[in-house]
Amino acid sequence: MLITKIYQPNEVKIAAKELKLGELIAFPTETVYGLGADATNEQAVKRVYLAKGRPSDNPLIVTVASEKMITKYTGPLSSKARKVIAKFWPGSLTLVFDIKPGSLPNAVTGGLTTAAFRCPANNVTRKLIELAGVPIVGPSANSSGKPSPTTAQHVFHDLEGRIAGIVDDGPTQVGVESTILDLSTEKPTILRPGGVDVTEIEDVLGEKVISDKHTVKNSEIPKAPGMKYRHYAPDAKVLIVRPNQWQSVFEWTEKQKDPIGVMATSDILASYKKNEYSYDLGKDVVMASRRLFAGLRYFDEMNEVKTILVAEFPEDGLGMAYMNRLKKAASNQYFE
Ligand code: TXA
Ligand code: MG
Repeated sequence: MLITKIYQPNEVKIAAKELKLGELIAFPTETVYGLGADATNEQAVKRVYLAKGRPSDNPLIVTVASEKMITKYTGPLSSKARKVIAKFWPGSLTLVFDIKPGSLPNAVTGGLTTAAFRCPANNVTRKLIELAGVPIVGPSANSSGKPSPTTAQHVFHDLEGRIAGIVDDGPTQVGVESTILDLSTEKPTILRPGGVDVTEIEDVLGEKVISDKHTVKNSEIPKAPGMKYRHYAPDAKVLIVRPNQWQSVFEWTEKQKDPIGVMATSDILASYKKNEYSYDLGKDVVMASRRLFAGLRYFDEMNEVKTILVAEFPEDGLGMAYMNRLKKAASNQYFE
């Protein structure tokens, strides 16, 4: 078993050396923590799947420090691509492009002719990649299927002994993963809602993009392969609560013999008795997105909590990403 070291931001040089040697290093981004390995080293990339317990047909995001790093794989970029990059990089937008055949290992692309690229806003991680001198793969640094990690402690909990180190830069800001935009298709297509709002992307492109929100579901649309797996799920059962249901929720929880975890906004909790089984999601969907995964993990640590009730938010803006993750964690089940 490996000893998993914790690196402070001023120790990225050592972490970068480990990456170059083919070791796995978890890194902070503004969305969630990622699990890094040299994307050009197939053996190292294969170990990422093992460490996470991830199905091997699920391709990995290639994390870069700048736009310059990707053209080696993609060739010259289209004007659409340059526009969105200029606006959203570094940031919470992942872009899927066609790549030159064989330019990245199959273990990265899952054998697809495209790859997903992301340049995160976190300075420490961009420095880490620059020092390593190679792009690094970056799936979320959780055990496959569990809520994504928003602190270095979450990563340690899931992957201790399986990875060489974690660069700790404190809790992440956005809390849900990046938006994935596919630019390899005729029409720009959203494969996963995330930290960047779809309407902002449409403003920059000057055209509608294809997403579940705007179009009739079309089974021909290629989806991010990872979206088909069970995801973000704690061990406890998760139920979604509509805004008008809180009164009945509180009456119901009183009658249960086992403790029920409750994740709600501050104003809702103010009218309820706060205790260790209530988890404050803050005042709005921005704060709630930042805290969602941490809350699910908090209750999982308490073995006696078998049911977690979580507040619904309207599905617009960041609410699209929040509800996408919550519905997966809850297998779409609502409190009745
Ligand atoms: O915010 C994020 O994006 C985080 C941080 C760490 O960067 N990373 C992340 O990675 O969420 P992961 O592996 O948990 O999710 C990546 C998703 C998967 O659903 C995968 O199937 C999809 O991206 N993906 C990767 N390459 C793809 C490709 N060429 N075409 C379509 N989808 C792809
Ligand atoms: Mg993930």
